[in-house]
Amino acid sequence: MKVGTIGSGVIVDRMIEAMKMTPGMEVSAIYSRTLARAQEFARKHQVSKYYDDLDAMLKDEKLDTIYVASPNGLHYLQSKKALLAGKHVICEKPFVPTVEEAKDLFAIAKQKGVYIFEAITTIHLPNYQIVRSHLKELGDIKLIQCNFSQYSSRYEKYKAHEVTNVFDPAFAGGALMDINVYCLHFVIGLFGKPDTVQYVCNRGFNGVDTSGTVLLSYPDMLALCTGAKDSSSPNHVYIQGDQGTIRVYGSSCGVCSHVEILPTKGDMIGKKDTSVAHDIGLDQKPHMVYECEDFLSIIQNRDCSSYEKLCKQTLDVVSILEECQKQSTTV
Ligand SMILES: NC(=O)c1ccc[n+]([C@@H]2O[C@H](COP(=O)([O-])OP(=O)(O)OC[C@H]3O[C@@H](n4cnc5c(N)ncnc54)[C@H](OP(=O)(O)O)[C@@H]3O)[C@@H](O)[C@H]2O)c1
Repeated sequence: MKVGTIGSGVIVDRMIEAMKMTPGMEVSAIYSRTLARAQEFARKHQVSKYYDDLDAMLKDEKLDTIYVASPNGLHYLQSKKALLAGKHVICEKPFVPTVEEAKDLFAIAKQKGVYIFEAITTIHLPNYQIVRSHLKELGDIKLIQCNFSQYSSRYEKYKAHEVTNVFDPAFAGGALMDINVYCLHFVIGLFGKPDTVQYVCNRGFNGVDTSGTVLLSYPDMLALCTGAKDSSSPNHVYIQGDQGTIRVYGSSCGVCSHVEILPTKGDMIGKKDTSVAHDIGLDQKPHMVYECEDFLSIIQNRDCSSYEKLCKQTLDVVSILEECQKQSTTV
């Protein structure tokens, strides 16, 4: 797999490192809007080719895959261009803002015989599979709390009324799209689509949501997904059943560093059962490697079944994002 990258933020640094650690993947070209930046980025990562013309990179026949890590509002058009050029696409989260756009991208990919993936780390992690495998032990699951709150390095500028992409509605910024999308993926990946969705949020001076909570209602269960860019909290998930609770540290932020099962009954309340505690240990790989391995395996094995599952999950999450966005603009 020979990858060309779009964007030169920190996430691209991390993805390039993850790709380098994935046998069979190679970053072969860098695109930036400015040649100097493209050259500097390519040198930093020892990549020989660099472009300041996206169309030129997409014509490069040596590349078979494009990693899209531009501002959220550009994902759709850039991914579409790459698919139409016959490339596989790995698109950063949040995939795109609307179901119509998501369906369009999946349809083009199918037509061109290529794949498109949303780069959402959580659902590819070993500890996430461990959570899934222990759900039955919780009895009837009643409540889920999922919180990813991280004071943004760009919030100071925002408070001074300087709007960067991530706080710009025109670029599909805001807490829901940028950060709460992790919580939504975490819950939807385990429990599927809810019956109803409600979004309440704090909005800043330009109307963007700087923090907020989504309430997902299932027939016998409620899930609260909280995301904030204007304040911080330990990132955690609690899945509460009448027989036990699963606690996941660092879960909502896409890492899932530690999983515990806490029995509900008697004097065991609050004590962890270490037999099912799973740390990210020295034996585990950096968290972004797992998604790379999955994408590569799906492409190499033409694994339609796993691909369809990922597409469905992305579509479900996009539909919730779209619904929440509608509610947040009409309140
Ligand atoms: N998976 C994760 O853990 C994770 C973490 C952080 C971010 N992300 C996602 O990665 C994506 C990029 O995030 P970011 O924080 O790096 O975003 P960003 O800084 O706003 O922009 C990313 C890159 O896009 C280019 N760009 C910036 N403004 C642009 C504009 N107006 N028009 C065209 N290109 C522009 C810049 O690259 P050049 O100047 O080189 O062209 C910039 O480095 C987002 O979708 C975000 O949600 C994912």
